[in-house]
Amino acid sequence: MKTPGSLNLSDREIERAGGMLTELLREYERSAPSGAVMPDIDRGVLGGLLRGPFPDEGIGIDGLFREIGEKVLPNSTAITHPRFLAYVLGPPNGIAPFADAIASAINQNCNFWQLSPAASVIEQSVINWLAGLFGYPDSSGGIMASGGSMANLMAIATALRHRCGDAFLNEGLQSMRSPLVLYTSSEAHRCVEKAAAILGLGLGNVRKIPVDSSFRMRTDLLEEAVRGDRAAGKTPFCVVATAGTVNTGAIDPVDSIADLCAGEGLWLHVDGAYGALFVLGRETGEALLSCGRADSVALDPHKLLFMPLEAGCLLVRDREDLRRAFSFSASYLSAEQDPLFVNYMDYGPQLSRGFRAFKVWCSLRAFGVLAFREAMERTLRLARYMELRILEEERFELLAPVTLTAVCFAVRGAGDDGNARVLKALAEEGTALLGPVSLGGRSGLRACITNYRTREEDIDLVLERLIELDGELHN
Ligand SMILES: Cc1ncc(COP(=O)(O)O)c(C=O)c1O
Repeated sequence: MKTPGSLNLSDREIERAGGMLTELLREYERSAPSGAVMPDIDRGVLGGLLRGPFPDEGIGIDGLFREIGEKVLPNSTAITHPRFLAYVLGPPNGIAPFADAIASAINQNCNFWQLSPAASVIEQSVINWLAGLFGYPDSSGGIMASGGSMANLMAIATALRHRCGDAFLNEGLQSMRSPLVLYTSSEAHRCVEKAAAILGLGLGNVRKIPVDSSFRMRTDLLEEAVRGDRAAGKTPFCVVATAGTVNTGAIDPVDSIADLCAGEGLWLHVDGAYGALFVLGRETGEALLSCGRADSVALDPHKLLFMPLEAGCLLVRDREDLRRAFSFSASYLSAEQDPLFVNYMDYGPQLSRGFRAFKVWCSLRAFGVLAFREAMERTLRLARYMELRILEEERFELLAPVTLTAVCFAVRGAGDDGNARVLKALAEEGTALLGPVSLGGRSGLRACITNYRTREEDIDLVLERLIELDGELHN
């Protein structure tokens, strides 16, 4: 037990804790593919954690690691498992946990540069790398965010400030005589509507434009909606297109939407949280380059670049737009300006900010971008493989074209309930976790391959078990 008040570790304790951490990481990595995807939750243990007293006395480093091993790890979902195929969520790359540990140790506050000089430059460097993928100009900029939801919210706030000028800051939306209208597709992620609601736009001023048979926003209907709103005395201000919809991975026709936005004077934001980083892929790259025509793009290194949560990012074509939306002065926050550094408190709503860019920078420096491209392309190939297997197997039907790594399908004839039951049974037996999907009134299953560990054998096993489980559930 440590002397009360002593919060540092001795040299011996650092070695001991480091050794146990290394062992934990090694064992977690080794056992990831063999365990169950969903933990067999021990409610007693979790209830104990919930009701545990505020600890006056510590249990020490050995006690802590024991508790983590006995109580936390066995009750955690195995996101790293090769058959965790739900949502858009994958394992961290191997170096990222080390980068996170270093970021914790140096505890830079990435708000103004005097508290984080190297971090400010590294964040700029990561932003520049990412902006470069879309051919963004030198005037561009951006900021690391907690994820796509926050990046989308910041983008819409930036669009509002851009559209309304100082009136947005000083009088706010309350002063607008004509309601501002935002457009997105019926397949957009719900965080777009959530952001509009949080920002006070009102859900009644969000138009969900219908999609075509490939689940992409219909530009003709978008144009009609914009014209209709103008005729009704409303003020269209922003379109949120999606590059990689969460359900099917569909990529909205960003080029034609960008043309329309340019003609109508609308801010174009692309929610690329799922798909934009496929710009790195040799076969997918071209389809995503058009994201660079947008005024802003949200993307998520914690999805396609295998970063641990949280690592999202907002890019903007003109960084002055970000500064105008988020820069606030206060006497106790008078940061010096220096052309080498960005004061990130001026680019987003947070003041104290962690060093999120560090894990991205470390991972790209350690492995090189080609390794990430290879891992990402493997997930794309596996999605194609799964699509082919589904098309070959008469017990399944494909519910949507496979554009990226999301595969939406159904067990033929099982009905909505039957599909929900096999999905549950597959998770309960610990084989795999897929997600539910609802498309055009049909319910089915969605697998999203976001794991560099997943192999063809994993896909084969999932499909075989689904057929068997469907049979068992009918008998
Ligand atoms: C298209 C899209 N937008 C936004 C989000 C939300 O991103 P985050 O979970 O990083 O906030 C997701 C998440 O899957 C997504 O797929």
